[in-house]
Formats: sequence, structure tokens, C-alpha cells
Amino acid sequence: MKHILERLEKRRADARGGGGVARVAAQHKRGKLTARERVDLLMDKGSFEEFDMFVEHRSNEFGMEKTKIPGDGVITGWGTVNGRAIFVFAKDFTVFGGSLSETHAQKITKIQDMAMKARAPIIGLFDAGGARIQEGVAALGGYGDVFKRNVIASGVIPQISVIMGPCAGGDVYSPAMTDFIFMVKDTSYMFVTGPDVVKTVTNEVVSAEELGGASVHATRSSIADGAYDNDVECLLQMRRLVDFLPANYAAGVPEWPSFDDIGREDRSLDTLIPDNPNKPYDIKELILKVADEGDFFEIGATFARNIVTGFGRIGGRTVGFVANQPMVLAGVLDSDASRKAARFVRFCDAFGIAIVTFVDVPGFLPGTAQEYGGLIKHGAKLLFAYSQCSVPLVTVITRKAFGGAYDVMASKHVGGDVNYAWPTAQIAVMGAKGAVEIIFRADTGEAEKIARRTKEYEDRFLSPFVAAERGYIDDVIMPHATRRRVARSLAMLRTKTVEMPARKHDNLPL
Ligand code: HXC
Repeated sequence: MKHILERLEKRRADARGGGGVARVAAQHKRGKLTARERVDLLMDKGSFEEFDMFVEHRSNEFGMEKTKIPGDGVITGWGTVNGRAIFVFAKDFTVFGGSLSETHAQKITKIQDMAMKARAPIIGLFDAGGARIQEGVAALGGYGDVFKRNVIASGVIPQISVIMGPCAGGDVYSPAMTDFIFMVKDTSYMFVTGPDVVKTVTNEVVSAEELGGASVHATRSSIADGAYDNDVECLLQMRRLVDFLPANYAAGVPEWPSFDDIGREDRSLDTLIPDNPNKPYDIKELILKVADEGDFFEIGATFARNIVTGFGRIGGRTVGFVANQPMVLAGVLDSDASRKAARFVRFCDAFGIAIVTFVDVPGFLPGTAQEYGGLIKHGAKLLFAYSQCSVPLVTVITRKAFGGAYDVMASKHVGGDVNYAWPTAQIAVMGAKGAVEIIFRADTGEAEKIARRTKEYEDRFLSPFVAAERGYIDDVIMPHATRRRVARSLAMLRTKTVEMPARKHDNLPL
């Protein structure tokens, strides 16, 4: 009996060794952890249960039958993050460069199926060279099986992808269909075709970092929702993110004990808005002062910074914050900001996370660059996303809410449940200067008349009261009371129910 047990230990040790000491050392030398080290950091200590550690590939091409490594380049299983079940697969770059074979794909699809059965989130850690070249079409089929499951699971369980090394070819499309992608700076990159192919096809000379590094995807392409300095920081942040997310679409948001008084008032908010309406201020200050313990997990922090999106908690329960940022482009809505916010709003709605929207928006960004780039359709994405929400929507207008952007930003008309304004709010078709230039064009050149008309317009329209008189704003509230008023609204809305007409599915303006 003893030797049988020893044989098991030996086989386990072989599998845990991955691609061998030299390849593990090379991985470390590049500043990367191994797949097993990553999983250990991500999960609660000792909670990881590994599946399929003895699985090997079945390929006989190009002498592959002589090189079999248990685990076949991916580590799969489940464990807990702060006590809540999470499924995980982590590509092991030390084994065939983490490349995907038929059996490697089967290990991943098994974990995807289990996560769906258990209705628990799944996290994929990527560090891989794409399709196992020696396997040909079997690898392509394997990718397809993974992709299909990503789509079936979309909106059912949260799916998170973390890019921690190369991620190219077939490996990019599974992350692209998950809810969030995060990257590690300097050691990870993502592209459909690498620099060599780019050079051959387009004659363009570009490095891997320039083509698909974290600096590109977290700031320009918006493929990544965030980037971190190293593996350890990235995995610890993923633990933090998971704490905000529900296990599945029907589970309801997690509730963590909060020591922050729900009725806490913050007098400093009464002076947040500068006297000069054209002066910026940092909307994140408001988010941090309203959220429990100032804890805010930002999504897309370095892309379209004119809108801020992310998770926080109020009364211990997760909420999604969406806020125009006056510090960047005066908080204007452009195509990128609209797309970014639309995707975030849809995630929140899919998973039952209430949305708190802070509005200070001068309108949509004018110009050919925006119009040629499809601003109408991109703006419509955000309008569509809010209009479609069945989760509680609480909106606070802090300053400007001009034109179409007023409607779009979770106004009463598109489904806002409780809509507040600060006394500093200006809810109008446009700012005073533009308005007077159009409706009093005849007075142009007469400075005194124009000044009088401008003052008239400001007094009448640049306030929250015209909207409040119509019931478009439920109340004009003191800035210092924002947390208390929002928290009470959210508590009242916990049982919110809306019915939509039957249909197959809607037709989001993609
Ligand atoms: C089999 C692979 C492999 C692959 C890497 N390896 N990629 N084995 N299939 N796709 C192996 C290498 O042979 C090597 O084995 C080990 O992994 C490490 O690779 P290196 O090249 O030494 O590492 P590095 O210099 O860091 O380069 C990493 C890399 C490069 C940039 C990822 O390996 C590379 O370009 N790989 C090929 C990428 C690719 O073209 N994949 C196919 C994409 S097409 P040893 O034994 O020496 O350690 C695709 C289509 C799917 O995915 C489409 C589905 C929709």
C-alpha cells in the first residue's frame, strides 16, 4: 500500500514541477510568477482544489508523443476568495508555452461548465503562445468550444480575464468575451497577430509593447479595464474586485459588514462646486465621500477619463458609480466615454448591481472627429443601456446637465428612479452664452443688451428649479446630505420590480 501512496505523491510532484526547473527559473527571471504561484496568491490560503493535474495531450505529430507533461499547460480548479467560491484556470507558460491543445481546451471547458453549474464566477489567468502548433485543427476546435461557453455564461456568472504574459492568436478572443480584462504592465501583451506578421503584411515595424502592451490596451484601445505594476499587485486587486461582485445574476450583491454610518454627512461637499461654473473640480472626491469607507474600485481608470466608472458600497452593499469628470474635457460625453459607461452600466444591470450616477456634463463633444467616429451610435449605446436597466437608478446632478446629455445620464425620462439635484445644478438645453447668441441674435454687438439677456437666461434656466417644478427632479438636496439621501433611496428601491414586453432580445446599437 505504502508504495502506491508514494507513487501518487511522485506523480503529483512531477505535475507540480510544470515545465521543469530551468523554465520556471526563466519565468521568474522575466519578473513573472508561475501559474501555480499565481493561483495560490489569488485564492484563500489552502483553499485551491486542483482538477485534472494528470491530463496529458494525445498528439503524435512532430514527435510530440515523446514529450508529455502532466497538466498540459493549464492549471484548473476552484477555491475561495474571502470565503466565496471561485473557479480558475491559469495557463502555465513553462509547459509548451501555455499553448492550447485539444486536452488543454477540455480542461478549461470542464471548469467553465462547473462554474456554470455552481453559478460562481470564473477567472482565467493568461500567459500563453496561442494554438498548440503541432495539433492544428484540434486546437482550433478547442478554442471554439471555450468561446461558445464564454458566450453562454455571459450575464449568468461574472467572467474575468487577467493577462500576465503573451496572449496572442486564439487566446485573445476568450478574454474579449468576458466581463473584464486586466493586464500586468511591461510583462503582458495582447494582439491578434504579432509584430512579425504585422511587418510581413503591412511593412509596419512595431514592438510587442507598442502593438499590444498594457499601455496601449488600458489607455487607447480600451480592451483592458486596468493595468497593474506586477503579478502580486494584480492578483491582490482581483481579490478586491471579486469582493464587490455577486456570484451570479440571481444571487444579489454580496453584503459586507460596514462600519461607516449610513447617515454620515460631509460638510466639505457644500463647497465642492467652485463659484466659477467653468472651473473644474474632482468628481472622485464626491464618489469617495459617498461610498462606504471611501473604498472605490475603478474600472477603466486610464481610458476616457472624462467619465468615471467603478464599484463601491453603500450600507455594505455593492453599487456601481458612473460620474462625469469635470477635470477632463470638462466632463463632456464623447464616443469613448459613452462606450465605456454603456458597458459598465450593462454589467451592473446584468448582475443586479444598483447604479448611482453623478451628473456634471456640458453636452456631447462637437466636431467632425466625433461625428465621423460614430458619436451618434456610441452615445446611443449609453442611452440604450440606461433605458434598459431594471436595477435601481439613483441620479444626482451636481452642476451642468445640458442638452441630450441631460437625458442620457440616467434622467427620470429614461428610467431614473430617484433623481436629485444640488442647488448648484444647471439643467437646461445649453449654457447661457450659446443660448443668448442664438435666441437674441438681433442684439449681437450690443454688449449691454447681451449682458442683460445672459443674466435673464442664467436666472431663469441655470438652476435646478425649472426641472424640479416639473417633477423631473424629485428634490433639491444639500450636498452634505448626499450619502444619506442616496442610501435611503437605495434602501427603498431594494424591491424594485419592472416589467419589459416579451421579445427574443433587444437590438443594442453596436
Ligand atoms: C507550441 C509553443 C507555442 C505554440 C510557444 N511554444 N508557443 N509550442 N505551440 N503556439 C513553446 C516554444 O516552442 C518553447 O518551447 C516555449 O513554448 C517557450 O517559447 P519561446 O518562443 O521560447 O518563448 P518566448 O521567446 O518568450 O516567446 C513567446 C511567444 C513565442 C512570443 C509566445 O513562443 C511565439 O511567438 N509563439 C507562437 C505564437 C503563435 O504564433 N501561436 C499561434 C497563434 S495562431 P521550449 O520547449 O523551447 O521551452 C492561433 C490561431 C487560433 O492561435 C485561432 C482560433 C480562433
